[in-house]
Amino acid sequence: MRHLLTTESLDRATIEGLLDEADGFADVLVRPIPKVPALRGKTVAMMFFEPSTRTRLSFEKAAKSLSADTMTFSPSTSSLSKGESLKDTVLTVRAMGVDLMVVRHKATGAPWRIADWLDIPVVNGGDGAHQHPTQALLDCLTIRQRFDSLEGLNIAIVGDIRNSRVARSNIFAMTTLGANVMLVGPPTLLPIDPENWPVTVHHHIDEVLDRADVVYLLRVQTERGGGSGFPSASEYTQRFGMTAERFRRLKDEAIVMHPGPMNRGVEIGNDVADNERALILQQVSNGVASRMAVLFRLLEGQHDI
Ligand code: CP
Repeated sequence: MRHLLTTESLDRATIEGLLDEADGFADVLVRPIPKVPALRGKTVAMMFFEPSTRTRLSFEKAAKSLSADTMTFSPSTSSLSKGESLKDTVLTVRAMGVDLMVVRHKATGAPWRIADWLDIPVVNGGDGAHQHPTQALLDCLTIRQRFDSLEGLNIAIVGDIRNSRVARSNIFAMTTLGANVMLVGPPTLLPIDPENWPVTVHHHIDEVLDRADVVYLLRVQTERGGGSGFPSASEYTQRFGMTAERFRRLKDEAIVMHPGPMNRGVEIGNDVADNERALILQQVSNGVASRMAVLFRLLEGQHDI
């Protein structure tokens, strides 16, 4: 069975193929009728056991743009509240005639468990602090559209990396595409074993400003305990925030990215977030095209991921 659960297992040709496909779908999305019949008759279920704005809605838009039907599961109004198990929940939805599930869950590994129980493709829409592979694809697409290639680019990922599934997925995808990844954060918010990662480690954002081509800012994941990793929001901003003053010290062509949701005034200044070199809304738009590429690959049946 074919799934997309992690970027760790994706080779360069596979990622580049998905990005090429996503570029093609980005062209479809700006047509007067932004839709193709590729997945007519298929049904995609959005199984989000954790909140989401961007991932859930862009998967819905992606599926509909490929002419698939969609079903959206809402945990708070479901029979989970009557004690139904995760396994019975997904088997029940599968029995309604679903062809693919997108799963977000707070528990690391939940999409793998679900993939074991089901006979249809599963896409990881974010599991705990572990992986968020389609976020990495849309981020790499956004960088590639600006610089043509990630080869040799210096990408600084700044903030709460320890609790970030976005960082984990991006580190594997970006380095596979040839980028140099620098992790920037206090020791309390960095991975426990950074020496096992294909990265360099820095403890102050000012160390990387003059060489970064991309500054990728992360939200502090308070819901996963990240807030206890530094004394206060103002101290965090002082050492790691992309303020207007720091933005002026970047290379002229450098860009700023953020997966959202942003905490304006903490990790990113208000003016920086709205600057044309902050590609945050382009990332969101590319989320639709990238997810179209993933759904098409997994459901159209001729390619493996
Ligand atoms: N970037 C991201 O995953 O956003 P959502 O939590 O809104 O889906």
